[in-house]
Amino acid sequence: MELRELDPQDEQRVRAFVVATAGASPEAWSWTPARIDREWRSVWSTLQLPVATILAEDEGRILGMVCCTIVPVDREPGAVITNLCVTLPDRRRGIGRLLMLRAHDIARAAGARVAALQVAPTQQAAVQLYTALGYSPVKESEDTMVMDLSGTTN
Ligand SMILES: CC(C)(COP(=O)(O)OP(=O)(O)OC[C@H]1O[C@@H](n2cnc3c(N)ncnc32)[C@H](O)[C@@H]1OP(=O)(O)O)[C@@H](O)C(=O)NCCC(=O)NCCS
Repeated sequence: MELRELDPQDEQRVRAFVVATAGASPEAWSWTPARIDREWRSVWSTLQLPVATILAEDEGRILGMVCCTIVPVDREPGAVITNLCVTLPDRRRGIGRLLMLRAHDIARAAGARVAALQVAPTQQAAVQLYTALGYSPVKESEDTMVMDLSGTTN
């Protein structure tokens, strides 16, 4: 398996991955077809932003994805992590963690000292993963978790 950045030529394969994964895990991504279309346009448009979209791929099969966008936080670069997902049969193999570590490396290379993401408390696997990596919930918003990227290799 390799991790690599998204290429514009991946559009149809990544869309198929997103649709298959949404269908396989309605508890987490309970999307209607219309929602999938809308979310897909949003995911794909991240290519236009100062963002990296990382794919986990094995022999041409896309197993997972995460996006990392760099935004200003208190006038310094910060990272927003979105769209983390791994195909159902390939979960608990460490792919989600590897994707997050790569996103953090990209964020640090862009000068980010903090990373933030949104996760519903019901997304227990994701909350466990983020907590294990060092994310903590923000007091003001129970759906937001943040992590200090300095002083850690996570
Ligand atoms: C969240 C998600 C990406 C995790 O991907 P993954 O490849 O299965 O995660 P990993 O194998 O790297 O797990 C790393 C650690 O996360 C935690 N974890 C992952 N899945 C877990 C689960 N189902 N229950 C409890 N802890 C879990 C564990 O601490 C695990 O370490 P361990 O296997 O040594 O115990 C995957 O479950 C997924 O795609 N979920 C649906 C989409 C989603 O909720 N995305 C998050 C949007 S905010």
